Amino acid sequence: MAKSGTRKAVCPGSFDPVTFGHLDVFARAAEQYDHVTVAVLQNSTKAGLFTMEQRIEMITECVKPYPNIVVDTFKGLLVDYCKGNGISAIFKGLRAVSDFDYELQMAQMNSRLGVDTLFVATNPEYSFLSSSIVKEIAKFGGDVAGLVPDNVHEALKAQLNAKS
Ligand code: PNS
Repeated sequence: MAKSGTRKAVCPGSFDPVTFGHLDVFARAAEQYDHVTVAVLQNSTKAGLFTMEQRIEMITECVKPYPNIVVDTFKGLLVDYCKGNGISAIFKGLRAVSDFDYELQMAQMNSRLGVDTLFVATNPEYSFLSSSIVKEIAKFGGDVAGLVPDNVHEALKAQLNAKS
């Protein structure tokens, strides 16, 4: 039976920083859902390269072309964030088999807790891409152009210069 009303999904993550791989998933979520929230995890145990404010600013800039995507933060359980915001689906990208075990475990647990997860196969152009690998390449002076949007590229250079 078709469901009525606004269909909302969330794309959760750390996004430290956001990459073209993430943006591809956000765009595909925005095609399937009326409203998409990119929700950045506030993780008090894991300090990232970028502050929460910087991550949000970068993502907000990148999703400007998509009127149905908003950016927010969350802490605690993702399912609680979903329930509190009328979100019925978690939308994620699967890059490779190596993602599968962890993602399946989280999806099954989140389903048990009341919110289902939908996966899209990542665009093969970005299947090797992760925030960690981008940071590592940038840290050692490698070229990350084409892997992250220009604003993220600039922020990476500035952040790594400031830390060196
Ligand atoms: O980009 P990441 O770090 O791989 O994203 C992981 C994230 C944020 C999706 C996941 O850690 C998460 O949902 N954390 C919130 C806490 C939670 O709900 N944990 C139970 C998962 S079954």
